Amino acid sequence: MSEIYEVIHRRRDVRGEFTGEPIAEEVLERILAAAHAAPSVGLTQPWDFILVRDDDTREAFRRHVYQQRREFADTLRGERADLFERIKVEGILESSLAVVVTYDPARGAPAVLGRHAIADAGLYSVCLAIQNLWLAATAEEYGVGWVSFYNEDYLAALLGIPAGIRPVAWLCLGPVSHLETAPDLERHGWRDRRPLAAAVHNERWGEQPAGAPADALPRAGH
Ligand SMILES: Cc1cc2nc3c(=O)[nH]c(=O)nc-3n(C[C@H](O)[C@H](O)[C@H](O)COP(=O)(O)O)c2cc1C
Repeated sequence: MSEIYEVIHRRRDVRGEFTGEPIAEEVLERILAAAHAAPSVGLTQPWDFILVRDDDTREAFRRHVYQQRREFADTLRGERADLFERIKVEGILESSLAVVVTYDPARGAPAVLGRHAIADAGLYSVCLAIQNLWLAATAEEYGVGWVSFYNEDYLAALLGIPAGIRPVAWLCLGPVSHLETAPDLERHGWRDRRPLAAAVHNERWGEQPAGAPADALPRAGH
């Protein structure tokens, strides 16, 4: 029981700490099996996992991510722009392999039990598989880095993903030198984590639970 909490709080998004050592096949199998055990709307299991080891493919993707990074950087000004320049947003080449997770909305359709009112429920399911993968990798002392600086059509073409199936995440995976104790974005001063009390509402939005400090009240935009 306590181990799951320890893993949850030790998990980090990894960019700069990958060692590039190979991943043992049986460990990869356990991590993917954990992802595949996730809950899914209507038991659709709408995810697939593409394992990318090829250096040319990873290099092509890294170049694309770099362009996307530039596009985002161009929207920033002053101190924010300088700060972003110092933040690493991917470990594509340094990691041991990539797991690209996709979403197939047609799986189990049309009568997906539980998705008739909320189309996004399929996507939520894929994100739960990703979180299972992330936690399992952490339990195995590996690191995971989620890369989302990409155009979906570009990644679909790069990996031959059929029309209608969406890439949801490029996950860098592999052994790491260590896991930081605080998120990179916090360490670099980009953004701080919110206190839990600011995220908890009592009965209705904006109602502070009894005993919560006054500055914990949720505000718009936080
Ligand atoms: C949907 C999603 C997309 C993300 N995309 C990126 C990314 O492109 N590059 C990056 O460096 N981190 C990315 N991250 C990692 C977040 O920056 C990270 O989770 C957050 O700063 C908190 O840090 P922690 O995961 O170490 O707790 C992404 C995370 C999520 C959930």
